[in-house]
Amino acid sequence: MYNSKIIGLGYFVPDNVVTNDMLSEIMDTNDEWIQERTGIKERRHVIKGEDTTSTMGVKAARIAIERAGIDKDEIDFIVFATLSPDYYFPGPGVLVQRDMGIKTVGAIDIRNQCSGFVYGISLADQYIKSGMYKNVLVIGSELHSGGLDMTTRGRGVSVIFGDGAGAVVMTREEDNSKGILSTHLHSEGAHAEELSLIAPGMGKRWVLDILKDNDPDDESYFPYMNGQFVFKNAVVRFSEVIMEGLKANNLEPKDIDMLIPHQANLRISQFIQHKMRLRDDQVYNNIMKYGNTTAASIPIALTEAWEQGKIKEGDLVVLAAFGSGFTWGSAIIRW
Ligand code: COA
Repeated sequence: MYNSKIIGLGYFVPDNVVTNDMLSEIMDTNDEWIQERTGIKERRHVIKGEDTTSTMGVKAARIAIERAGIDKDEIDFIVFATLSPDYYFPGPGVLVQRDMGIKTVGAIDIRNQCSGFVYGISLADQYIKSGMYKNVLVIGSELHSGGLDMTTRGRGVSVIFGDGAGAVVMTREEDNSKGILSTHLHSEGAHAEELSLIAPGMGKRWVLDILKDNDPDDESYFPYMNGQFVFKNAVVRFSEVIMEGLKANNLEPKDIDMLIPHQANLRISQFIQHKMRLRDDQVYNNIMKYGNTTAASIPIALTEAWEQGKIKEGDLVVLAAFGSGFTWGSAIIRW
């Protein structure tokens, strides 16, 4: 059995900055409310026609591959995590394979929302561990802005989410004390609808129903979030899954050099930091600049932290996520 490790990282965010004040011009909200509840100051929104979920993923992937020092033809498998795919089907993994001119390797799409990137890392880790693949490209990308209710009706959700993409290249590591030490994944479908987008789907709102009803007030096209319920579950599950990962490796919170929590809400990150008694320099947050970019949030934050020299060889890096499903997970990494 091999270990896997991250050898290249990259991210891409659209240039178009949308501040809280800009949102307050189109809906009944304000900078104070958003910052106090979420920590978010601004987010990026794609200008329609300039990018899609998959093209942002490609831009992040190109940087990650270059930094990995490998050729795109050495990629053995593509993993793409998103809740906002370009198409209902096929998923964006194959679009990356096409647009990057990667040879006809397998491409899989992960639908685990905010936990998607951690699920993706876990999947890639297993393929590499078993020896099936050597180099795996893992992408998390979201284009939320094209699907949010940007009116006062949708303000509880739409102020939180932003667009962007992050990617990593993972490869084989012969030393079992380095790289991804373990991953831990969970789900609780009992709360599936508490953070969801119901339509179009083949469950409650068929495409045929939507066409038949043609109802402009139909909210099922927009994401729904029971904010306080999500918050309460998030703080518990984040803490649990970080502790589970640390315990599996005989480690403690004080051993963490850098915790990269999924950027759901600054208050959630601060709660976890406080609970685990971590210093400011042990946790990386960038939700202030980008909002919640769901599957992209961890790879964007991980890349930024690495670029700023906050992650060095030998560091213990912990990734943790919670989100729609509910799903949650962690990855414990010796960098
Ligand atoms: N601007 C101004 N007011 C807003 C608003 C906005 N953008 N969104 C909601 N409000 C209003 C509500 O209408 C409500 O008004 P009312 O009291 O008159 O009915 C009031 O603010 C409080 O709303 P509530 O939803 O109870 O706020 P909250 O304190 O729970 O904060 C969240 C809302 C979404 C910020 C918070 O619940 C949260 O962060 N939850 C977790 C979200 C998360 O992490 N999601 C991603 C998971 S991966």
